[in-house]
Amino acid sequence: MRIVCIGGGPAGLYFALLMKKLHPEHSISVVERNKPYDTFGWGVVFSDATMVSMKAWDPESATEIEDAFNHWDDIELLFKGTRQRTSGHGFVGIGRKKLLNILQRRCEALGVELVFETDSNGDVDYPDADLIIASDGFNSKIRNRYPEVFEPDLVVRPNRYIWLGTNKLFDAFTFDFRKTDHGWFQAHIYKFDDKTSTFIVETTEEAYEKHGLGRMDQQGSIDFCQELFSEVLDGSELMTNARHLRGSAWLNFNRLICGKWSHFNGNSHVVLMGDAAHTAHFAIGSGTKLAIDDAIELTNQFNKLGHSKDKIPAVLETYEEIRRVDVARIQNAARNAMEWFEVVGQRYADTLEPEQFMYSMLTRSQRISHENLRLRDPKWLEGYERWFAGKNGIDVSGNGRTLPPMFTPYSLRETHLPNRIVMSPMAMYSAKDGMLDDFHLVHLGSRALGGAGLVFGEMTCVSPDARITPGCLGLWNAEQASQWKRFVTFVHENSAAKVGIQIGHAGRKGSTKVAWEGIDQPVEQGGWDLISASALPYLKTSQVPKAMDRADMDRVTADHVRAAKYAAEAGADWLELHCAHGYLLSSFLSPLTNIRTDEYGGSHENMARYPLEVFKAVREVWPQDKPISVRLSCHDWFEGGNTPEDAAIYAQMFKDAGADLIDCSSGQVWKEEKPVYGRLFQTPFSDKIRNEIGIPTIAVGAISEADHANSIIAAGRADLCAVARPHLADPAWVLHEAAKIGLTSIPWPKQYYSGKAQYETNLARAAAAVAPPAVGPTAAAK
Ligand SMILES: Cc1cc2nc3c(=O)[nH]c(=O)nc-3n(C[C@H](O)[C@H](O)[C@H](O)COP(=O)(O)OP(=O)(O)OC[C@H]3O[C@@H](n4cnc5c(N)ncnc54)[C@H](O)[C@@H]3O)c2cc1C
Ligand SMILES: Cc1cc2nc3c(=O)[nH]c(=O)nc-3n(C[C@H](O)[C@H](O)[C@H](O)COP(=O)(O)O)c2cc1C
Repeated sequence: MRIVCIGGGPAGLYFALLMKKLHPEHSISVVERNKPYDTFGWGVVFSDATMVSMKAWDPESATEIEDAFNHWDDIELLFKGTRQRTSGHGFVGIGRKKLLNILQRRCEALGVELVFETDSNGDVDYPDADLIIASDGFNSKIRNRYPEVFEPDLVVRPNRYIWLGTNKLFDAFTFDFRKTDHGWFQAHIYKFDDKTSTFIVETTEEAYEKHGLGRMDQQGSIDFCQELFSEVLDGSELMTNARHLRGSAWLNFNRLICGKWSHFNGNSHVVLMGDAAHTAHFAIGSGTKLAIDDAIELTNQFNKLGHSKDKIPAVLETYEEIRRVDVARIQNAARNAMEWFEVVGQRYADTLEPEQFMYSMLTRSQRISHENLRLRDPKWLEGYERWFAGKNGIDVSGNGRTLPPMFTPYSLRETHLPNRIVMSPMAMYSAKDGMLDDFHLVHLGSRALGGAGLVFGEMTCVSPDARITPGCLGLWNAEQASQWKRFVTFVHENSAAKVGIQIGHAGRKGSTKVAWEGIDQPVEQGGWDLISASALPYLKTSQVPKAMDRADMDRVTADHVRAAKYAAEAGADWLELHCAHGYLLSSFLSPLTNIRTDEYGGSHENMARYPLEVFKAVREVWPQDKPISVRLSCHDWFEGGNTPEDAAIYAQMFKDAGADLIDCSSGQVWKEEKPVYGRLFQTPFSDKIRNEIGIPTIAVGAISEADHANSIIAAGRADLCAVARPHLADPAWVLHEAAKIGLTSIPWPKQYYSGKAQYETNLARAAAAVAPPAVGPTAAAK
């Protein structure tokens, strides 16, 4: 085969050398526009894990690269006059120039033809090639020639960055955050050889504009950064090696992924590799790793499927299929990390204390969890747990095991929760005439005995026609209130848990069958008339609701007030107003379901007017010493619907009206929604609202392990975590999760004590029987 790699970056060179090494009979050339020892860029960072596969594929170049590496374990943060450091993160840094020179030499030794100083026009220049590797980087001419084939999906990110260097040597991966009159700037700094460190400075578009950086030449920007980071630079100068770039040299990161990675141009097969196919933000430092991994996988497929011309189409197809999965995973983690740096000024830097800021930064990609940090640096994590517990009123003077964040108590007004786990409201469709009965007592009571700090009953409807189904709980008469009181008394007498009641009105989603008979399907008999913000049915087959008039509003407000009074009489500790999931109050908040033209429709202010009226009326009758939360759908997951930006606006309005906390759910507003599910998928909404609006939050949704809850609470992404489905699977979810992380100090109900030690011993035995996994700081830490 004749193979031409266009572009001699890490992707092109590494593929050429692996392929030539394994199949020397092929003619392989690398065409590069730069001179051999002339390249743009400072140091790149690898994780230890990347080196493992490089060693397996080509020990010769891997050894040379490893010898040239600067290895370090520590991350240091300079923030608001503090200096914090953690260890165990395992990075290696190498100069890009050095890396490419090693790969170039290895290519030459193996017989790859290296053609320098040739600016290729792309694949059309090599009609005799059987295979063309488009390894020509992010601005790939080849990809740009066939946009309809490769379908590049490009997102230009809002932040600006400049890639500089300095001769000051840093012995840790260092982050330095500095506040200016126009916003925050951050420097990402790492040493990559014995003379130089990379120094990337990043800021928002707004700060960049207001400081006039767009109008300065490179030297002007360097002088600005030099001054801003003078403390950390300590007299050393910043340098650029991109004088060839015109203008200011501040760039925007472009996130790229292609719909297809290969193409037959009539003569040759063309395949994208490295930055030509995809990019990963420098916040996770994986661009070079992805390029190298692409090169390895393509070689691997030639080895497996055969390296003759006729096998090329099959090889390219499998290569793309396999690499796409890994790239998606890395891009996902890179997106979280990149977004953290994009919002750090508006969200965290002014609000979090340095200790929590450090924790938030370390877990920014959400690939590194609480227990993962414990593996990396147990002493640091213990110190952080101690700090967090101390902040939350725990005596931390002893030497015993520190209390993980989810087990620290939490208080709002005069309601004191023993821990941060909430049993999320879940409709059980098992009530008759809205009455809480023995089923609910056992169901909810067992979750209170099972360790949840706050047990929410399901959505409890404020009138018979406010119910979702005939089986829903209600709170519109004294008999119902007395049944609630029986339950609240049971919980208070038998556990440390507190009781929450979520009051709500189903609106356009009412008068439907119980879930197991047909979710959202209208009841066939005994239904009731529906009301909503607008006369829009939920399903095509649903009843068309009446758009509420003023009289309806007054009645429904009064119904909420009555329910709140009954909840207070029952002795509940916490009230939640259900403004989510497309039910009545939620239908006012979303432009998808509210098309009113009066003062209750249109702007955010108008759409929130009625829900706020209800909230304020309820707040007035609900005891002042007890909290009220509001559950919002923070994302409608549908074009034209609400986004987290809208949710933040509503959160601010409820906060101003006296809400104590926002319970951050999403969806169920619009039947055709397209939610993106995944671990902790709604936590970013809680993070945004808590830290931008400055109101406590509950995170909910796919939180299924103690490690998830600890990571969320420790980072300040929420104050409480609500756990729904895992509580259906296991009433004692909280007690079991404590045992799983080896925390034996959490009390069990006294009647169950003899089960505790046995459960813990069995877990310990099972853990010992399984050989412990090879743990260590091998994953990319950035
Ligand atoms: C600020 C910043 C920091 C980064 N930090 C890291 C990091 O810490 N760790 C990390 O792993 N990655 C990092 N990266 C990403 C990394 O630089 C790239 O992801 C990686 O180099 C991609 O390799 P590649 O071979 O696909 O492309 P490139 O390295 O871009 O190589 C493409 C090559 O093709 C050549 N070329 C282009 N067009 C032509 C043409 N028409 N004819 C001939 N030659 C051509 C170019 O001259 C270049 O040499 C960073 C990137 C940036 C911008
Ligand atoms: C069976 C069931 C019933 C639910 N009923 C309610 C409800 O009455 N009110 C509410 O706000 N959310 C309700 N939800 C949503 C949950 O409170 C929670 O937000 C959702 O299940 C995501 O959490 P999870 O991933 O821990 O299950 C219900 C969920 C389930 C599974």
